[in-house]
Amino acid sequence: MNALNSINSETSLPELFRALPEARTVFNRYGLRGCGGAHGPAESLGLFASAHGVALDELIAQIRRLADNQQARREAREQLRADAAPRLADAIYRPFFLAAMTVVLTAGAAWGVLLLWKIGLGGSFTGVSVHEVNAHGHAQIMGWVGLFIMGFAYQAFPRMWQVELPAPGLAVVAWLATLAGITMRSTAMMFADSGWALPVHQAGGVLEILAVSAFGAQMLCAFRRSEESFKPYVGFIFAALACFLTQAVYGTWHIDQLLRADNRPDLLAQIATFQAPLRDLQVQGVAMLMIFGVGLRMFPAIFGLPEIPARRSWAALGILLVALGLEMGLFLAYRLTGNHALAAALLLPWLLLPIGAGLIVVPWRLWRPLPVGSERSAKFVRVAFLWLFISFAMLLFLPVYRMVSGIEFSHAYYGAIRHAITVGFISLTIVGMAAKVVPTLCGIEPEKLPRLYWPFILINLGCLFRVVAQIGTDWDPAFFKVIGFSGMLEWTGLAIWAGHLVRVMLGRGRYRQSAEPDWGPAPERIGPDDKVAAALSWFPELEEVFVAHGFGLVKRPVLRRTVARQVSIRQGCRMKGVDPETFLRALNRAVEHRGCSDCCSEH
Ligand code: HEM
Repeated sequence: MNALNSINSETSLPELFRALPEARTVFNRYGLRGCGGAHGPAESLGLFASAHGVALDELIAQIRRLADNQQARREAREQLRADAAPRLADAIYRPFFLAAMTVVLTAGAAWGVLLLWKIGLGGSFTGVSVHEVNAHGHAQIMGWVGLFIMGFAYQAFPRMWQVELPAPGLAVVAWLATLAGITMRSTAMMFADSGWALPVHQAGGVLEILAVSAFGAQMLCAFRRSEESFKPYVGFIFAALACFLTQAVYGTWHIDQLLRADNRPDLLAQIATFQAPLRDLQVQGVAMLMIFGVGLRMFPAIFGLPEIPARRSWAALGILLVALGLEMGLFLAYRLTGNHALAAALLLPWLLLPIGAGLIVVPWRLWRPLPVGSERSAKFVRVAFLWLFISFAMLLFLPVYRMVSGIEFSHAYYGAIRHAITVGFISLTIVGMAAKVVPTLCGIEPEKLPRLYWPFILINLGCLFRVVAQIGTDWDPAFFKVIGFSGMLEWTGLAIWAGHLVRVMLGRGRYRQSAEPDWGPAPERIGPDDKVAAALSWFPELEEVFVAHGFGLVKRPVLRRTVARQVSIRQGCRMKGVDPETFLRALNRAVEHRGCSDCCSEH
């Protein structure tokens, strides 16, 4: 019980659970349930307390009270056994993350690379069709960013708020509907000239709107059921969710109009007026606000960054929302009226964006090494914010660029700004946060895993190369010849990262241990409904008793990992024609006489 005597904020959860398995019930009250596999998440007590918003002293006091009370420990064991069966909400992030990775490596980045080569070889950004570009854009925004946000939120937010995820089955429906919606909408855009494109796109849009509505409603319900107060980070999160739903509706309408356009002038007019506000809503509204919300809540816990005072955070949210509203509103007003003064006024929201973001990011001092947390994920997050401010600076520099280059509307320059924020800021944040969260949820210490230098270098290098080369095309067409390589660097970086995380999630290779389910603490007696694998995991020495009663297959590791996890002792006896009572007696006798070879030989 050493871990209990010296329990403090540095004590690791797996260490504590080894000393006092019943302590899990205390943590379950604060949203641990199902996280971290058999040994619990690879994090310290202090980190858990801060990430889940629990007072550390209170947590330690509850653990000590439990350790000293035999009756409470018995009840906790019973509770853990009753809760042992895995539930849908325990690892709900997985299908979302896996789907997001699949989308980014196929219809997202791979398709983007092809487009980039087409643009490069054709020597013009208009060398690809608007619909082809939009198919890529949609897959990235809804598939890569949207699915990642949904998976993260379903897993983390109810736990942050210490409530159960309402209607977990609905999350699976939302996952299916989102995937189907993305596939239908992006395919319709790729085959925009086909007769079926319009109805398929509309059906896909409806599915996405329903999925996002269900997701938003579940988050709202979870929050309302909790006792969490409406703190600034919650404001950021719900503002991002409101933008998520709005963009689903607006985006479906906008692409619908593009698919209906009878001629090129109509098509270009719709794009010129309505596409930029859509992108603002998606990139700054959904992704940026969500990253700030999650950052305000989690970065102090996982990276040791200072808490941002509530007034300052509210001010930041207010400024960012005003900036977003003005950016979209002024642009639409300018396009609909043709009044150039309105276009010039866009400088105001472009100035407000770095001011609002700076209120939060400057006190974090990300230019200095982070106080805690693994550099494995910290470097992605730090550089991501650098990219955010690079994209803001590029926006503010736009009028100067226009004057210097003499180009009224530089597609290359706009595209470079967007790439800096979508790949540099959003994608690097996703990559860094997932590198931290996924192993932790699988019970593996992120610090013991590869540092992910290659994905870090390749994605950053690709992004820098793309931004510079894309702007370079305004000055020298030679840049077109090399621009395609930038996409290949980014794709390779993302593929290495995704391959690594999939292996961690699925418990492959050296990450196998994470595949072992959490069977809870060992009971005093084995019962007929206990799973075969659970009995063997609690008492490995029972293998001989199983073999002696005709269950020789338990010696085969593959069956131990598969069938034995599903089949209870009662079911196994039925399959083998063994009397369950006799068998259970033999098992429990062996349990009672563990480590006592003399007694065992007597029986
Ligand atoms: C990973 C490598 C990527 C490559 C090779 C790539 C490539 C491209 C290309 C060639 C275009 C059209 C040309 C242009 O407008 O600049 C484009 C547009 C776009 N990309 Fe990407 N992209 C990548 C990543 C991303 C990511 C991660 C996102 C979002 C998170 C994203 C979102 C978009 C959007 C929304 C557009 C359409 C912009 C518009 O409204 O015109 N891209 N991308």
